[in-house]
Amino acid sequence: MSTLITNIAELMTQDAEHRVLKDAAVVIEGERISWIGPSSAAPAADDAVDAGGRALLPGWVDSHTHLIFAGDRTAEFEARMAGESYSAGGIAVTTGATRDTGDFDLTRLALGRVAEAVSQGTTYLETKTGYGLDLENETRSARIASTVADEVTYLGAHLVPSGVDAEEYTDLVCGPMLAAVRPYVGWADVFCEQGAFNEEQSRRVLQACKDAGLGLRVHGNQLGEGPGVQLAVEFGAASVDHVNYLSAVDVEALAGSWAGWQGPAAEAAGAGSNHRGTVATCLPACDLSTRQPLAPGRELLDAGVPIALASNCNPGTSYTSSMAFCVTTAVLQMRLSVHEAVRAATYGGALALRREVGNDVDGERAVGSIAVGHRADLHLLNAPSATHLAYRPGIPLTHAVWRAGVRAR
Ligand code: NIG
Repeated sequence: MSTLITNIAELMTQDAEHRVLKDAAVVIEGERISWIGPSSAAPAADDAVDAGGRALLPGWVDSHTHLIFAGDRTAEFEARMAGESYSAGGIAVTTGATRDTGDFDLTRLALGRVAEAVSQGTTYLETKTGYGLDLENETRSARIASTVADEVTYLGAHLVPSGVDAEEYTDLVCGPMLAAVRPYVGWADVFCEQGAFNEEQSRRVLQACKDAGLGLRVHGNQLGEGPGVQLAVEFGAASVDHVNYLSAVDVEALAGSWAGWQGPAAEAAGAGSNHRGTVATCLPACDLSTRQPLAPGRELLDAGVPIALASNCNPGTSYTSSMAFCVTTAVLQMRLSVHEAVRAATYGGALALRREVGNDVDGERAVGSIAVGHRADLHLLNAPSATHLAYRPGIPLTHAVWRAGVRAR
């Protein structure tokens, strides 16, 4: 089955050459993109969709969410808007509600959040455990996550549950809990922050998870400067997320981690030893909701650090799955160009999940860019150009979505 999408006013590919095509067409064949070119030269297909002069982007790649939870933190949000500051302790409220909710309802809630994200243009999504915080509940969170998301991260090291010794809990995270979740997860993460896990505990978690063969990510430098970024780089983590408080040394370390990378063109050519560094993942919706300074996305890009934008959808600090809101904020407040912001929310997310084309990722597994052979993850805007994402803030602009070639909206 093939589908021709024609009459695309602007096709923002986010491919290796950063191509933006005008008056373009795309053909989807099964799950893949089989042809891209000018509308006037488009081949015939089984089905045709007239884009009506709209803009087509890759689907959003949301590389940081926490969707496996129950309960509500409206009161905490209201207190914050009245001047209280955010602290990691609120996680315990969600942990209580999550533990009290059965598998069926926890799955139903998570699926609802995924559906909400997809309806807004998200086509590839990571989610985490982290609201179970004991062996049984982290394991079922991981199992449920593996049924609803594309990529699953083990975040047993989200908070030390109250009444539990921090060292003993870290032993559990690094030992029996890790063994129990291992079949369901590909990634591990640690919240390395005051009030969560200190440097030594974070180091233990990262080492144990690395030894277990998991890819690594770190929640770091969210509430103040700290060791999170340095640890992420030292351990070769794919991403360090939040990055609100960075020293010059942190930025240098992140930039240095990409020193051997030959860039996306070499990725596309399948360069054998194209070493990837640590992506800085910015979470602007969370920064606004916690009244933290926005992550320095402009400065990071200028220093040569690839960045991702992600929603951080969770009940405490960022209860939104809107990647468009993140892109809008990145343009209006973080001084990214529209192209840079869309790239960070598509290709950048893929890089943070190591699903960009190149190295061990062939075109068939690649997400976050529109190229022949790639998964057909497409987002048609109800606007003639991606600029409208920032020019018309708050307007729901998703017109149609294809996820792996299937029309999802
Ligand atoms: O990414 N920072 C740590 N974890 C989440 C928030 C968790 C919560 O408060 O429920 C985050 O912001």
